[in-house]
Amino acid sequence: MAQQRNDIRILNIVGARPNFMKIAPIHRLMQASDRFRATLVHTGQHYDEKMSQVFFHDLKLPQPDIYLGCGSGSHAQQTGAIMMALERIILELQPQLVLVVGDVNSTLAAALVASKLHVRIAHVEAGLRSFDRSMPEEINRLVTDSLADFLFVTEESGRRNLLSEGIHPDKIFFVGNVMIDSLKSHLAQAQQSTILDQLQLNHHPFALLTLHRPSNVDDQHTFDRILLALEQIASRVPIIFPIHPRARKMLTQFRFDHRIERAKNIRLIEPLGYLDFLQLMKNASFVLTDSGGIQEETTVLGIPCLTLRRNTERPVTVELGTNVLMGMDTDRIVAESFKILDGHSRPGQIPPLWDGQAAQRIVAILEQRL
Ligand code: UD1
Repeated sequence: MAQQRNDIRILNIVGARPNFMKIAPIHRLMQASDRFRATLVHTGQHYDEKMSQVFFHDLKLPQPDIYLGCGSGSHAQQTGAIMMALERIILELQPQLVLVVGDVNSTLAAALVASKLHVRIAHVEAGLRSFDRSMPEEINRLVTDSLADFLFVTEESGRRNLLSEGIHPDKIFFVGNVMIDSLKSHLAQAQQSTILDQLQLNHHPFALLTLHRPSNVDDQHTFDRILLALEQIASRVPIIFPIHPRARKMLTQFRFDHRIERAKNIRLIEPLGYLDFLQLMKNASFVLTDSGGIQEETTVLGIPCLTLRRNTERPVTVELGTNVLMGMDTDRIVAESFKILDGHSRPGQIPPLWDGQAAQRIVAILEQRL
């Protein structure tokens, strides 16, 4: 019998900033295919214009079909609110598959709800492990992977971790990295961004900083050690710091604002959209970050990345890419930054299958298996 058109009903779930660039290439392909009826659901975990809406615009993502408006709260409140809202949607729409990306609370909440309603789950970016259970994301990754039916991994370590946790090999698919699909397809457009002019950085060296992990910004002592390093680095090069709402809140709470003001070369700016941030990253002398995705993006762009963490769930960026783990050691952060400024940085390689085709592989596998 011939296949019906639009016969596979899928919910594509997004919630927080790092989800949008991962879902965009997948959702676009599903919309273009006559096999899928894909519904885009936004949990509302991130809701500020600069944390959410700007990404829909930059990535040309259609507005979400369903917006749950769950917002912020403690982990239990946020996860619970998303679960309750999503349960109603799944019961109403009866999808065959719920597709989740990354490791945020929205990912976990959607996987829990789908599994209890016996709906199959695809997890994009499965298998990554920091082996640090004090990170909320590590809990989200472990639980989501244990429930998922299709586990799409970005790097070889992901497959190894899943196999060692007893996941059946038939469920694991090494497909590459959808975040890199988005990066590759938006580089030319990012070139049109005027952000370098706006910040008067054209042809000037600068460092780019992002910071938002609770372990870094919610802990006064750790935040202080990072700031001490930044103050020294800023004596040689301006540091551009698009600040995450969580970091801004803690900066004020710890009364660190005046230190930023005094160190004139640390330039706090509002969170940026996707294209402006890509353009800054591509032109930075180096990047300081505690983000997950930025470790991957800098590796592909060949920009040195100093990760302000003790561990990474993305080891390929250290083994092959441009990433170096710094821990919270002030002197080490300063020394590595100065080494880069003196022209001693490690050229990286692009990890296998980070070629811009990951979403195509995912959609082809789902089309075949569902
Ligand atoms: C979340 C993810 C993290 C991801 C990060 C990217 C979890 C557990 N964490 O962390 O993995 O790297 O997003 O940004 O899911 N807030 C706003 N406006 C917003 C959203 C949040 O002001 O649009 C503030 C609120 O005060 C909120 C706080 O930021 O309480 C934290 O937001 P939340 O979504 O809980 O976690 P993130 O730190 O953003």
